[in-house]
Amino acid sequence: MDRNYAMEFVRVTEMAAIESARFMGRGDEKQADQAAVTAMRKMFNSIDFDGRVVIGEGERDEAPMLYIGEKVGTGKGAKLDLALDPLEGTTICANGGYNSIAVIAIAEEGNFLHAPDTYMEKIAVGPDAANAIDLSRTASENLREVAKAKKIDISNLTVMILDRPRHSELIKEVRATGARIHLIGDGDVSAAISTCMPHSGIDVLMGIGGAPEGVIAAAAIRCLGGNFQGRLKPRKQEEIDRALRMGVKDVHKVWQIEELARGNVMFCATGVTTGSFLPGVRFNPGGAETHSIVMRSETSTIREIRAVHRFDKKPTY
Ligand code: FBP
Repeated sequence: MDRNYAMEFVRVTEMAAIESARFMGRGDEKQADQAAVTAMRKMFNSIDFDGRVVIGEGERDEAPMLYIGEKVGTGKGAKLDLALDPLEGTTICANGGYNSIAVIAIAEEGNFLHAPDTYMEKIAVGPDAANAIDLSRTASENLREVAKAKKIDISNLTVMILDRPRHSELIKEVRATGARIHLIGDGDVSAAISTCMPHSGIDVLMGIGGAPEGVIAAAAIRCLGGNFQGRLKPRKQEEIDRALRMGVKDVHKVWQIEELARGNVMFCATGVTTGSFLPGVRFNPGGAETHSIVMRSETSTIREIRAVHRFDKKPTY
């Protein structure tokens, strides 16, 4: 995959972040998401590539733009698959909370799991505990192994979990091990990634979140050398049928990171609202400042990009 694409695609997340950040704290999730989607699609179509959305805004009949299967780009250039979330953390942005991001993962054609829009049980860790996890074990067994790999006491581990009623048993089990918990309202992509960031203070992500977000997180963690595993958690027969239609043969399978995002992958994210992962968009007279991260699995290069945008000089696409 041409490495220059990474720098092209970060322009796309920058623009999605700027447009959705205008709606920060306005209490309207749909408006914030729509702004990100529209900007992302417009920017894609200015880039020479033959893109296909594999993880996107939903099925064609429910999402008018960036739906699963939509072709994006000018059609000239490499055939690439996209797993994207124009605004990961719509509620966060609408409430002016922490850690909403615009995000794209890129792979060569056929290399992302076509994850249906259902739930996924997830575990994510950084490089120092990459070999210590196995989703088929219990949460306490995993935490014991992670603590051993990190050579720390289990009581020093911090586990991030989405604050949802469905996690009450998991939270009880984690507490019983003595590990510390950081509950979050939303945004398990940046939570998963933070396990790979040495200064985040987060050791493990556990619990059930969106399956599409799982594929995006897996791509990012491939670039960072950590580990991620996921198992689909469909809520009803309709979701099982959809998974089967999308080519998932075994809905109970534990997916390894390389099965979720295969081959060379790239990942770009721009902060929408400030968080531990990325600073958010800051508007200033006549422009805005954005902070992004760009990564490639092939080289494991991580670029942090601060961009200063002048609206009077922006081309219109
Ligand atoms: P959106 O950006 O689509 O709102 O997703 C936010 C999110 O918190 C994800 O990070 C997470 O995977 C999922 O929602 C959890 O779903 P739910 O809110 O239904 O528990």
